[in-house]
Amino acid sequence: MRVDFNVPRDSTGHITDDTRIQLALPTIAYIRERASHLTLMSHLGRPQKKKLANGEIDRDSFSLETIADHLAQLLDAPVAFQSYADDPSMAKLTLLENTRFEQGEEQGDRAFAQMLAKHGDVYVNDAFGTAHRRHASTAVIAEEFSPENRGIGLLMADELEQAQKLLDSDTHPITAVIGGAKVSDKIGVIESLLDLCDNLLIGGAMAYTFIKAQGGKVGTSLVEDDKMQMALDVIEKAKQSGTSLHLPIDSVIAQEFNNDAEHTTCFSDDIPEGWMGLDIGARASETYSEIVADSKVVFWNGPMGVFEMSSYAHGTLSVAQAMAKVKENGGFSMVGGGDSVAAINASGLADEVSFISSGGGAMLEFLEGKTLPGVAALG
Ligand code: 3PG
Ligand code: MG
Repeated sequence: MRVDFNVPRDSTGHITDDTRIQLALPTIAYIRERASHLTLMSHLGRPQKKKLANGEIDRDSFSLETIADHLAQLLDAPVAFQSYADDPSMAKLTLLENTRFEQGEEQGDRAFAQMLAKHGDVYVNDAFGTAHRRHASTAVIAEEFSPENRGIGLLMADELEQAQKLLDSDTHPITAVIGGAKVSDKIGVIESLLDLCDNLLIGGAMAYTFIKAQGGKVGTSLVEDDKMQMALDVIEKAKQSGTSLHLPIDSVIAQEFNNDAEHTTCFSDDIPEGWMGLDIGARASETYSEIVADSKVVFWNGPMGVFEMSSYAHGTLSVAQAMAKVKENGGFSMVGGGDSVAAINASGLADEVSFISSGGGAMLEFLEGKTLPGVAALG
């Protein structure tokens, strides 16, 4: 079974959020009850892009061994750990080493897919978070199994169902809250959400690209200067589709990217020279929270500020709290994407939202209407 155990870790390799591992447990349990052996495979990070100075793969930093230990603890059962190059494991439960140690993984190499395929008689893909990649272990491998011997995992099926539910929503108002650093990462999903949503709330550093494009003064805030036209096009499209697009009226600003830096609040389009916006301000937080809490359906991807630093976490936290109200009021609130999932977990409100997606890029691509190679390969 392909899972997405690509979990965030701190500089010492300690897992900081095991949501993705937790979410794979139901399918693992289901298969363990029915099969004599279950072998799991996953990638972790981008080892091909972060090689050691001598050009070799950093096998220590990117090993899945600590994840095998963590899984063993969660299941209170032994988890064998071995290389994909070894003979198929005879253990009841096995985790293979990081599939991205092999160059062929990301290239979708057939020979590597065949090597992986030898580890099982049946292939299950439950790695929703990686379903947007056409890699050896996520898509190409499926061709090594007949249609009866390949299938979709419970998590993957649930993710697709929830995302479809969002796309098919016809109870209004529908609101999307999109944050994060770059407009360019989110442009596809923003454009398709404009057709669906009544409100689009923009936060995070990407807001400053919009604000600068409209002639605002954003100081040293992070801006994609070459994406300002893209931002203006989004504003125009929002007008045409009748979606009210909101930018944060105010921002928490500082002169340094530092939690202890002196910080204050000002209008987002009048940030003084030498200062940068690091969170949406108190007024924007209030407006965004009200719009979210009054919505029937909400999709949230990307933090409103540098929420990892407590001085700039308020905006993200208020969105998280408003998301909780949506569910309380009988609406549907969905959080997608690594950072916003970490934020909702940090806020302690994870159980108060309707659905937390294990997919960042994968969820965005699905909502954009793109075919996910990992899903298509199972057909
Ligand atoms: C993710 O976290 O986005 C998935 O695990 C896929 O990883 P990738 O973005 O490195 O392909
Ligand atoms: Mg990614």
